Formats: sequence, C-alpha cells, structure tokens
Amino acid sequence: MRFNFWSLATLLLSSSQRANARSNVTEVLESIVDCATCLLAIVPLQGLALLGDDVFSDGFVAACDAAKLQDPDVCSGTFGLLGPILAHDVRSIDAVSTTAERLCDALFGFCANKTPQPFTVPLQPPSSPPSPPVAPTPRNRPFTVVHISDVHIDRNYTVGSEANCTKNICCRNYPDEAGKPILEHAQPFGNHQCDTPADLADSFLEAVNSFNPEFVIFTDAHVSLKVIPGKPHKSKGVTTDLEDFNAEMLSKITATIYPAFGNHDSNPFDSFPRNTTNPADNVQWVFDTQSAGWEHWLGSAASQQVKHMSGSYAVSAPDRNLMIISVNTQFWYRQNLWLYDSNTFQPDPNGIFAFMADQLQAAEDKGQLVWIMGHIPLGKPDTIEDQSNYYNQILQRYKDTIVGQFFGHSHKDQFEIAYSDYDNRIAANAVGVGIICPALTPTSGNPAFKVYEVDPDTFSIMNMRIIFTNVSDPTFQKKPTWSVYYDVREVYGTLVGLPETSELSPAFWHNLTEVFAANETAFQLFNTHISRGGAVTPCDDTDDCRNNTICDMRSFRSQDNCDLDAGGFTTTLRRRSASVGSLQDASECEGTRIREVLAKIQSNLWARRK
Ligand SMILES: *[C@@H]1O[C@H](CO)[C@@H](O)[C@H](O)[C@H]1NC(C)=O
Ligand SMILES: *[C@@H]1O[C@H](CO)[C@@H](O)[C@H](O)[C@H]1NC(C)=O
Ligand SMILES: *[C@@H]1O[C@H](CO)[C@@H](O)[C@H](O)[C@H]1NC(C)=O
Ligand SMILES: *[C@@H]1O[C@H](CO)[C@@H](O)[C@H](O)[C@H]1NC(C)=O
Ligand SMILES: *[C@@H]1O[C@H](CO)[C@@H](O)[C@H](O)[C@H]1NC(C)=O
Ligand SMILES: *[C@@H]1O[C@H](CO)[C@@H](O)[C@H](O)[C@H]1NC(C)=O
Ligand SMILES: *[C@@H]1O[C@H](CO)[C@@H](O)[C@H](O)[C@H]1NC(C)=O
Ligand SMILES: *[C@@H]1O[C@H](CO)[C@@H](O)[C@H](O)[C@H]1NC(C)=O
Repeated sequence: MRFNFWSLATLLLSSSQRANARSNVTEVLESIVDCATCLLAIVPLQGLALLGDDVFSDGFVAACDAAKLQDPDVCSGTFGLLGPILAHDVRSIDAVSTTAERLCDALFGFCANKTPQPFTVPLQPPSSPPSPPVAPTPRNRPFTVVHISDVHIDRNYTVGSEANCTKNICCRNYPDEAGKPILEHAQPFGNHQCDTPADLADSFLEAVNSFNPEFVIFTDAHVSLKVIPGKPHKSKGVTTDLEDFNAEMLSKITATIYPAFGNHDSNPFDSFPRNTTNPADNVQWVFDTQSAGWEHWLGSAASQQVKHMSGSYAVSAPDRNLMIISVNTQFWYRQNLWLYDSNTFQPDPNGIFAFMADQLQAAEDKGQLVWIMGHIPLGKPDTIEDQSNYYNQILQRYKDTIVGQFFGHSHKDQFEIAYSDYDNRIAANAVGVGIICPALTPTSGNPAFKVYEVDPDTFSIMNMRIIFTNVSDPTFQKKPTWSVYYDVREVYGTLVGLPETSELSPAFWHNLTEVFAANETAFQLFNTHISRGGAVTPCDDTDDCRNNTICDMRSFRSQDNCDLDAGGFTTTLRRRSASVGSLQDASECEGTRIREVLAKIQSNLWARRK
C-alpha cells in the first residue's frame, strides 16, 4: 500500500474510530453516494484490507447478510471469492488516483468517464504504395462458416428440480431448497431461467455439424453462471467443464473449431490477473488447459501462443488466404477486478495489442486478410473506454486487412459498426463491423447460432442465417428441432435495397440502422430478433430506447455508446429494470455480478434506514 494523504489521515484517527471504520462495511457502503464519497470510502477499506483478506471478505459478507438479500448464499459466494481480489486492489492503489476512479466505476458506476486516457498504440505505418485491395471474383462459390457462442453448460442441471427459483440460475438441486414444493419442474432440454443442460448442448452441436461448415468460430463462455466456492485459483470444476466440452465438440463436430476465451473461463469468473500482478495469483492453469485442449484444431504453434499470450493466438485457415486472430478480451473487461491493482497506467495488459499489431503487420506483408474474434464486443459498456479506444486505433490502421470481427457475450443477435470518423457516422465512413452471435443458453431467449456464407476471395460475409430452436414449441422437450429463424439478406437486405452481388458490408449495416431510425416496424422486427422471438423486451421511443439502441449499433468504441451511467444504486437499479429494454446492452453476462450485488445491498440498506 502507498501511504498518501488520505491513508495518513486514517492513521491519525483515534483508534476507536479506526476500529469502527475498519469493521463496519455496512457504514462504508451506506456512505457511498457519488464519486467523491466512493473515493473517500477507499480509505477505510484500505484499513480493513490491511487486516487481511479474511477480515476484509468477512466484513463484506456481514454487510451483505445484514442487507438481507433474497438469496443469502450470494453473499458468501460473491465476497468469499472476490473479497481477496478487492482487498489486494485497495491495498495496492492510492485512494486519489485514476485507478481508484476506475474501481469506483466498476463496482458502483460512480466516477464513470467516457474519455479514454490518451495513448497511441505503436503501429508501423502502411507501406507505400499500399497493396491493392483484393478484388472479389464474381460468382465464386461462397463457403460456410458457423459462429457459436455463450454455451453455458450447467453440469448440475437436474431434470425435475425447481425451474422457478429465486437464484440467478435454476434447475439445480440447491441444498437450501431441499424439501420445498416445486412450482415448475426442470424439463429435459432446458428452461428459460436455467442454463444449458447437456442434452441441449448435444442437440446443438449436432445441428451445427449438419451445416457442414468449413470451420466453426466459437466466441465462448463455456461454463454456467455459477459462483464456485473455493480458492480463487485453479478449480477442478472449471477445468473439468472446459475439458468435457472440448471433448464433446471434438466428438460431435467434424470441422475445425477456432475458440476464444470468455469471462467465464476462470475461477472466480471474470478474474484474469495481469502478468504484472504477483505470479502466485496467475491463471496460467486455464491457458495451459486450453492450450492442450485446443491443439487438435489450432496446431502446435498457435496452441503455444494460447499458453504464452494469455489465451490469444493467430492461425491461418487451411487452404485459405485468411488469418484468424483470437483475442482474450477479458483484460479489457470492466468487471475483471484484477485490473485495478496498480497506480501505474497499463495501456496494453499482457501485450495483447502488441501481439495483434504484430500479427496484422505480418498478414499485411503477406497480403493475407484477417478475421478477429473475441468474447466481449468492444463497444459495449463493459469494455473499458481506454482499451476499447486502443483496439479501435489498430482497427483504423489495418482496416483494409481486417475483413471480419466476431464476438459474443451479450447473448443477443446484434452488430456494432466502426467508423473512420465517429463525429460523422455515415455509410461512407463505416470501416468495420463487429458481428455478435446470440447464445445457446435459453436464459436470454431462444437458443441460436449464426451461419455465414463467406466469399472465398474477400472473406466478406455474403449472407447470414440465424438458426434457432423454439423453447416454447410443444415438441421441444421431446427433441429440439433447429430451423432458420431469419435470413439477413432476405429480411434486412430487402429493407436496405442491397444489390444481389453486394456483401454485407459495414456500409450495409450502417444503412440498416438508417432504416431502423426511419421505420419503427423494421426496428421492432430487429427488437424481436435480438432474443430470437423468445422473452422479447419492449423497446420503442419511450425513454429513448430506440434511439439509444441505434446509437449502440453505431458504437464500436465504448466511449461512443449511449450507456450514460450516472452510477448509484437507484440509477443502477432503475437502469437495470428498464435496461434490458431501454439499453439493449445491459450485460447479462456479468459472471459474478458483483456490481448488481453491491447495488442491491446499498438499496436494501437505505430502504431499511428510511
Ligand atoms: C455497523 O453499522 C450499522 C449502521 O450504523 C449498525 O447497525 C451495525 O450494528 C454496525 N455493525 C457493527 C459490527 O459495528
Ligand atoms: C453440483 O455438482 C457438484 C459435483 O457433482 C456437487 O459437488 C455440487 O454440490 C452440485 N451443486 C449443486 C448446486 O447441485
Ligand atoms: C414463479 O415464481 C413467481 C414468484 O416467485 C410466481 O409469481 C410465478 O407464478 C411462478 N411461476 C410459475 C410457473 O410457477
Ligand atoms: C507480460 O507479457 C508481455 C507479453 O508477453 C511481455 O512483453 C511482458 O514482458 C510481460 N511482463 C511481465 C512483468 O511478465
Ligand atoms: C414458438 O412456439 C410458440 C408455441 O408454438 C409460438 O407461439 C411462437 O410463435 C414460436 N416462436 C417463434 C419465434 O417461432
Ligand atoms: C448506403 O446508403 C448510401 C446513401 O444512401 C448509398 O450511397 C450506398 O450505396 C448504400 N450502401 C449499401 C451497401 O447499401
Ligand atoms: C418498414 O419495415 C417493414 C418491415 O419491417 C416493411 O414491411 C415496410 O415496407 C417498411 N416501410 C417502409 C416505408 O419502407
Ligand atoms: C433521437 O436522437 C436524435 C439525435 O441523434 C434526435 O434528433 C431525435 O430527436 C431523437 N429522437 C427521439 C425520439 O428522442
């Protein structure tokens, strides 16, 4: 810990004041009402953290228990795992620092700042003259690629257990629910409040294989939404889940699979320490597990990169002039609490941007085109503005080389457009698009995946079909059937007037947002598509929902999205309840949901005081 003015001030407080400040997390949490009070609260939290990780975590668990949340084991689960990381953070930073502000933003939504810290990613200038763009050969037969994401298999899924519980995820035999009468029985192939049962995953993998793709991109999140008790290091549970699913994909899918790391592929979720942090806290075990598990598809060079580049790798698609760069986006993720353990500005954690730039330069030199894939889309509010901006610098430099970008995480069927000039977001300035794949897990709508028709010369997407299975269909629990939900060229291409030979270019997607802005019916179609027709959340011009949603489609940088987060529990809760509708980006995928838990604690504490 560094002794700055504020920590010195704490030391000068009387010992009884100190003991009180140290032991009473309830009072600390109640005191946090804005950015300034959040920064002030870091000081007593530092005092508590100096007493040890256990004291710190116990303090949070006690405050959480005192707030009487609906589901009490959330308290020990959340703070038992994240408490030690948080204690390490506050011990390592100054209370008055940019890092402290970023931490307040991650935990409470206070001190949110849309302005990134200035940093220029070192990039080689383009060679002159630039290599001519690859021209499509007319009527060349496209090839098929399947994109899958957010599988969320729950190995604890139990048919017949409670499907309508009060916890994050139902359909499990929770010990504290034993003996209670069951309101709704968990079905064999899944329920809306539950993660994916193994049988649904099998059915899904068979459906993916039936499209006979040349390869599959898998933008991840294997493990179900559960907080795993135990030490925040290697967990047998996570390792086994990862290994099991690798084996299942290998046995069910004939094609090569290119996976990416997700925020759930760690224990606790979201927690990927930077390599500048004490090595004892590293997550090398998860990179080692996947390096071995993916080698069959990636070959040895790329699987060594997985091991040594914190989960990122680059690989050439066989017999194609295409490089696939898979990036571990979790080092740019706001909810990764390990990112707040240093006052030192670290623009490129673990060198992932440097790795991307090297690979892109190599591709440019060879005249290869590139697809980038990762778990968390860069324009969402849960990507830190800094790193989102730095990624965008790389994209601008290599915009002619990067011809596809693919993500997951939001669980929704969405897209995000990048522009050369964000002050002038028009079709002519659209330089890239991030395609977001919907989830398999039935918690956020009907299970789905995307099938792309890809031009073999330009590697642009010529068409896209969304394949789904209808959880509400009477036959679903006997045997899920997978069919085309909609065809992008047929539905959106027609609305935009896309010529038959044109690809689904960034300009096309921009023009589609113009249609959504002008045509409410078309926008409502999109709003239904988001969740594949299941669990549709209303979104119209009330609360500017349509406007904000369109704004988010035009934001590849998180600094430009319309998620104006003023922070605070009331705002947070209001945003959350309205959020799924008003801002299509409310993260459903916040693994440990610490921010939501803190907001609920604060809200309950305040309600009880009144
Ligand atoms: C912490 O503060 C709250 C509110 O002031 C009080 O009700 C509670 O008894 C205190 N707990 C401890 C352990 O001091
Ligand atoms: C989940 O399964 C594991 C191992 O089978 C078991 O230890 C654990 O208690 C189960 N948890 C629930 C909630 O069913
Ligand atoms: C699920 O539980 C909620 C309250 O917890 C209740 O209002 C609802 O009717 C239940 N649904 C079913 C299908 O039992
Ligand atoms: C962290 O990883 C990057 C990329 O591999 C490397 O350049 C850097 O030296 C590493 N830093 C430490 C402290 O290990
Ligand atoms: C799913 O099935 C239900 C029940 O048959 C039906 O009402 C609904 O329209 C279907 N949804 C879609 C998107 O096809
Ligand atoms: C997008 O709209 C602009 C302006 O109307 C038009 O010039 C352009 O051809 C359109 N592009 C696509 C791909 O539809
Ligand atoms: C608006 O969109 C709907 C489809 O959602 C389409 O049927 C209708 O023709 C569009 N209206 C106009 C004026 O383009
Ligand atoms: C949507 O935003 C635009 C500016 O981007 C504004 O002109 C328009 O009035 C807004 N529409 C609504 C319904 O608020």
